[in-house]
Formats: sequence, C-alpha cells, structure tokens
Amino acid sequence: MRIRLVIIIVFAALLGAGYVFPRIALNATPTFSPQVNRKKQTGRTVRRRNQSRSQRKPARDYSQFSHRSAKHQSLACDACHKAPTANWLKASAFPDVADYPSHASCIKCHRTEFFKGARPLICSVCHTKVSPRDEARFDFEKPNQPSQFSTIFPHDKHQDVIASDRFKGEPVAAAHALRSAPRAQDKSRAQYYNCAVCHQTEAKTPNPPGGFPDNFMPPAGTFKAAPVGHASCYNCHWKNQEPTHNDCAGCHKLSETDVAMRLAPKRNSLKFAHEPLEAHIAECASCHINITRESSLLNLKPDVPITSCSTSSCHLAQTQTEFEQRKLDSSFGCVKCHTSDVGKRPVPASHSALFTE
Ligand code: HEC
Ligand code: HEC
Ligand code: HEC
Ligand code: HEC
Ligand code: HEC
Ligand code: HEC
Ligand code: HEC
Ligand code: HEC
Repeated sequence: MRIRLVIIIVFAALLGAGYVFPRIALNATPTFSPQVNRKKQTGRTVRRRNQSRSQRKPARDYSQFSHRSAKHQSLACDACHKAPTANWLKASAFPDVADYPSHASCIKCHRTEFFKGARPLICSVCHTKVSPRDEARFDFEKPNQPSQFSTIFPHDKHQDVIASDRFKGEPVAAAHALRSAPRAQDKSRAQYYNCAVCHQTEAKTPNPPGGFPDNFMPPAGTFKAAPVGHASCYNCHWKNQEPTHNDCAGCHKLSETDVAMRLAPKRNSLKFAHEPLEAHIAECASCHINITRESSLLNLKPDVPITSCSTSSCHLAQTQTEFEQRKLDSSFGCVKCHTSDVGKRPVPASHSALFTE
C-alpha cells in the first residue's frame, strides 16, 4: 500500500512538472520508446533484446527479467512465485499460479529501478502499459517468448499411476484448452494407458509459419497434444506428492539457453494420423514401444519404429513397393508415410532390414 502510494506520488510529480516531460525524454533518449512499446511486438523477443543491449550503455536491461542472473538464481522460487496467485479463480479451474510475482518480491532490491524516471523500464517486465494507474499485465507466461526453463517429466516413474484404477475416468481439466483445444473426450472410446490425461488428440491442426514440407496439410486427428499447464499435474502434485505445487524447480529446470515454444510437433512420418482410422487407435505403447522406460523429456522423441507399421499386413506391401521404386530410381521420394524432406533421403537401415533376408 505504501509502495503504491509512493509510486503514484512520484508519477504525479513527474507528470505535474509538465506534460511535455515524457515527450522530451522520448526524444532525448531514443532507447526509451522501443522499450515501452515492447508489448506490441510479440514474437520478436530476440531482436528486441539485441537492440537494447547494444543501445543501452550500462549493460543491465531492466525491461527483461532473467532467472539466470546471479542474484535471482540465489533465491528460492517461492521468494517471488506464490502459488496460488490471487487471480486464480478468474484464470483457472484450480488454485494455479496464473500471475506474475507481486511488487513486494522485487522492491526490497529494486527500489532504484522502481522509481526511475516517468516510465520505469522495470514495470514492463510484467505490465503491458507503464503507468501508475494501469494494472494491466501480460499473460503469464508471456505468449511468444521463449521459456528460460525446460520441463521435467519422467514417463517411467509415472507408469504405475498412469495405469492405476484410481486415475481412470478423472476429468481432464480445462487448462488443456489454452494453447490447443482438444476434442471432448469420447467416453465410449478406450483411453489406452490413460495417456490421454496428458495427450489428447489435437482438435485443430497447428499451422506453423511457412507451413509443413511440400505444403502438405495434415488432416484433423493427426497430432497428439502435450500438456501446456498444470492441469495434468496438480491433481496429484498439489500437497502430498512431491514435487508439490510450490516447488516450481521440481518440474521446471533452469536452462542455459532459452527454450523456444514448439509451433508444431516434429515428425518423421507426417502422413501418419492418430485418428480417425480405427486401425491406428490402439494401445499407445504398442507403437511408442519405449515410452514407459523414458526417464527424461530431454531429447525425447515419439520413437515409433517402422516395424510397428510395416510388419502388419497393413503397410508391408506399400513399403516394399516404394523400396523397389527407390532401387530403380535413386531420386524417387517415398511419400506414403513421409513428406519429401524425409522421403528423399537415403533408405535407412531400419527399412532395408525389412526386405533383405
Ligand atoms: C526474483 C524473482 C523470481 C524468482 C526467484 C523466480 N522467478 Fe520465475 N519469474 C519471475 C518473473 C518476474 C517472471 C516473468 C518473466 C517474464 O515474463 O519475462 C517469471 C517467470 C517464470 C516462468 C514463466 C516464464 C518462463 O521462462 O518459462 C517460469 C516457468 C518460472 N518463472 C519458474 C521459476 C522457477 C522454477 C524458479 C526457481 C528456480 C523461479 N521461477 C524463480 C520472477 C522470479
Ligand atoms: C535479493 C535481491 C533481488 C530481488 C528480490 C530481485 N532482484 Fe532483480 N536483480 C538483483 C540484482 C543484484 C541484479 C543485478 C544482476 C545480478 O547481479 O544478479 C538484478 C537484476 C534485475 C534485472 C536486470 C536483468 C537481469 O535479470 O539480470 C531485472 C529486470 C530485475 N532484476 C527484475 C526483478 C524483478 C521484476 C524482481 C521481482 C519479481 C526482482 N528483480 C527481484 C537483485 C534482486
Ligand atoms: C514482477 C512483476 C511486476 C512488476 C515489475 C511491476 N508490477 Fe505492478 N503489479 C504486478 C502484480 C502481480 C499486480 C497485482 C497486485 C498484486 O497481486 O500484487 C500489480 C499491480 C499494479 C497496479 C495496481 C495497483 C496495485 O498496486 O495493486 C499498478 C498501478 C501497478 N502494478 C503499477 C506498476 C508500476 C508503475 C511498476 C513499475 C514501477 C510496476 N507495477 C512493476 C506485477 C508487477
Ligand atoms: C499405430 C501406431 C501408433 C499408436 C497406436 C499411437 N501412436 Fe502416437 N505416434 C505414432 C507415430 C508414427 C508418431 C509420429 C512419429 C514420427 O513421425 O516421428 C506419433 C507421435 C506421437 C506424439 C508426438 C506428437 C505428434 O502427434 O507428432 C505423441 C505425444 C503421441 N504420439 C502420443 C500417443 C498416445 C498418447 C497414444 C495413445 C492414445 C498414441 N500416440 C498411439 C504412432 C502411434
Ligand atoms: C496420477 C498422479 C500423477 C500425475 C497426474 C502426475 N504425477 Fe508426477 N508423480 C506421481 C507419483 C506417484 C510420483 C512418484 C513416483 C516415484 O517416485 O516412483 C511422481 C513423481 C514425479 C516427479 C519426481 C520424479 C523423481 O525423479 O523423483 C516429477 C518431476 C513429476 N512427478 C512430474 C510430474 C509432472 C510434470 C506432471 C504433469 C505433466 C505429473 N508429474 C503428473 C504422480 C503423478
Ligand atoms: C508437478 C510439476 C510442476 C510444478 C510443481 C510446477 N509446474 Fe509449472 N508447468 C508444469 C508443466 C508440465 C507445464 C506445461 C509444460 C511447460 O510449459 O513446460 C507447466 C507450465 C507452466 C507455465 C506456463 C503455462 C501456464 O500455465 O501458463 C508457467 C508460467 C509455470 N508452469 C510456472 C510455474 C511456477 C511459477 C511454479 C511454482 C509456483 C510451477 N510452475 C510449478 C509443471 C509444473
Ligand atoms: C502426466 C502427464 C503425462 C502422461 C500421463 C503421459 N505423458 Fe507423454 N509427455 C508428457 C509431457 C509433459 C511431455 C513433453 C511434451 C513436450 O515436450 O512438449 C510428453 C511427451 C511425450 C512424447 C514425445 C512427444 C514429442 O512431441 O516428441 C510421447 C511420444 C509421449 N509423451 C507419449 C506418451 C504415452 C504413450 C503415454 C502413456 C503411456 C504418455 N505419454 C503419458 C506428459 C505425459
Ligand atoms: C509404412 C510407413 C513408411 C514407409 C512406406 C517408409 N517409411 Fe521411412 N520411416 C517410417 C518410420 C515409422 C520411421 C521412423 C523409425 C524408423 O526408422 O524405424 C521412418 C524413418 C525414416 C527416415 C529417418 C531415419 C532417421 O533415423 O532419421 C528416413 C530417411 C526414411 N524413413 C526414409 C524412407 C524412404 C527412403 C522410404 C522409401 C523407400 C521410406 N522411408 C518408406 C515409416 C515409413
């Protein structure tokens, strides 16, 4: 309360000194406006960062918060992040961390930056508009900004709970709908291994900039989505099961380099669709044969061997046909399962082994 008051007084004093002040300041310090306007330029985080670094002499950029700087790293996550945040009822179906840390978590170290000039840069870490009266903030986390963390989720450690009865039929919470809007669960359909609690079929095919290779448009039902928030974790990891909800670092590992948000799953076999073909709707681990042993998400791939499609009567003949065509014409691209970026490459050993016995 006192802090807020002081901010308002400082602002009032600066603005009262003459409405022209901010404009003069704008002209005098050309670095100022790009900083204040940064919220409009979503998707250009990297360039913005470089700009401000080269233009501002004292290297520290107070419009960009880093978890990697020494002092911040020395603090516990919940020195700043308090879960649940005050706005959770508005933002989430369960007590979630859905907002930025409060002023109180910064001010004891950053009094100087909080009261610097008419438009303190540091406000724009969280606020869309720097103003003593406007409390509007960016979404948490900021859309289109790479994350400073990688996620920790060991599939292997979760096999028992995934398969357990206790877990069956629990509703998939609504937070899934944030970035991908999965279909409503079809109750009549078996939820294999309950993987669907975290991986539902993506209702809308993502549309990455530049499109997919060969301008191929994967039909609805192609992709499985992955968790985008806490809805698939907090029902177990709330208070009892570690890591609990306040232990951010238990699931978010500070990464040395920024982690870009994936715009579409990376595929070998872009032509494969999980749905609606009944033959493709099977126990997940019958194709993802190693997933139940994966201890980390690091470099985790879908890892579906060609033997899971070609040893069946379904695709062996087709694979052989393409294999023969490639033998006759080395430029032949295999397009049954692949787009040309993969199908024009040399035949991998996993494929040749099917026909050389
Ligand atoms: C000194 C205060 C502070 C501490 C300590 C802190 N954070 Fe943050 N955190 C912030 C601020 C401020 C933001 C918003 C940054 C932004 O949007 O640019 C943020 C954003 C995040 C985000 C979303 C953005 C992203 O990069 O993915 C995650 C996840 C996160 N913090 C996790 C953690 C974890 C895990 C820890 C402990 C290891 C931690 N934080 C410690 C202040 C802090
Ligand atoms: C315990 C003291 C402390 C707290 C609390 C703290 N900071 Fe910092 N912050 C620092 C120091 C010291 C630096 C200078 C870099 C360094 O040496 O780590 C810094 C640097 C920064 C920078 C410049 C870029 C960077 O990260 O290096 C920003 C922006 C920033 N802090 C924002 C915040 C915000 C927002 C909060 C509250 C959510 C916060 N800080 C909480 C001590 C603190
Ligand atoms: C680390 C993120 C962060 C930074 C940096 C920050 N704010 Fe806030 N601000 C918040 C949050 C979160 C709230 C909501 C109130 C709360 O939960 O503490 C808020 C609330 C406000 C409000 C509403 C009134 C109030 O005090 O509750 C105003 C006005 C405001 N901030 C202005 C500013 C200004 C001006 C600056 C820079 C000097 C600034 N904020 C810096 C996160 C931030
Ligand atoms: C018939 C075999 C098959 C079955 C059954 C199957 N998948 Fe897949 N899955 C694949 C293939 C093939 C890929 C893409 C691999 C590639 O291109 O590298 C894939 C990719 C994925 C991906 C990565 C995102 C994407 O769509 O590219 C996830 C997540 C996934 N599957 C989850 C599941 C879940 C959960 C189930 C069970 C409900 C399941 N899969 C059942 C074959 C299968
Ligand atoms: C159905 C309940 C359940 C759900 C849902 C769940 N977990 Fe877990 N999780 C557990 C249990 C039980 C353990 C302990 C397993 C063990 O120690 O063998 C665990 C352990 C962990 C661990 C610690 C592993 C270790 O090495 O000690 C992490 C990290 C974790 N879970 C992350 C997550 C994340 C992230 C999500 C959401 C994407 C999630 N969990 C969803 C039940 C669950
Ligand atoms: C039990 C595991 C777990 C814990 C504990 C946890 N997270 Fe997460 N968090 C996840 C997973 C999984 C995602 C979705 C995948 C991703 O974006 O990394 C996620 C996503 C996020 C996001 C982006 C998506 C969103 O919901 O807006 C933010 C921000 C975030 N976490 C911050 C935090 C903070 C801050 C804490 C501590 C108060 C925390 N998380 C604790 C597992 C966890
Ligand atoms: C509690 C949540 C949870 C459960 C249950 C779960 N996963 Fe995952 N899975 C994740 C998370 C989180 C990721 C990482 C997603 C990312 O990197 O964006 C992931 C990644 C994957 C990937 C790699 C995706 C890619 O794009 O490369 C596959 C494949 C996968 N899971 C399959 C499965 C299968 C099969 C099951 C059931 C046996 C299963 N998962 C159960 C949370 C879960
Ligand atoms: C029935 C579907 C299918 C057909 C037909 C097919 N592939 Fe594949 N291809 C796969 C699958 C599944 C994988 C991933 C796992 C593997 O290598 O076993 C894959 C992987 C690949 C890879 C990537 C290997 C790697 O490790 O990065 C290349 C290159 C490739 N295929 C080329 C071809 C060529 C050339 C042909 C035609 C002669 C062909 N494929 C026909 C399903 C198919």
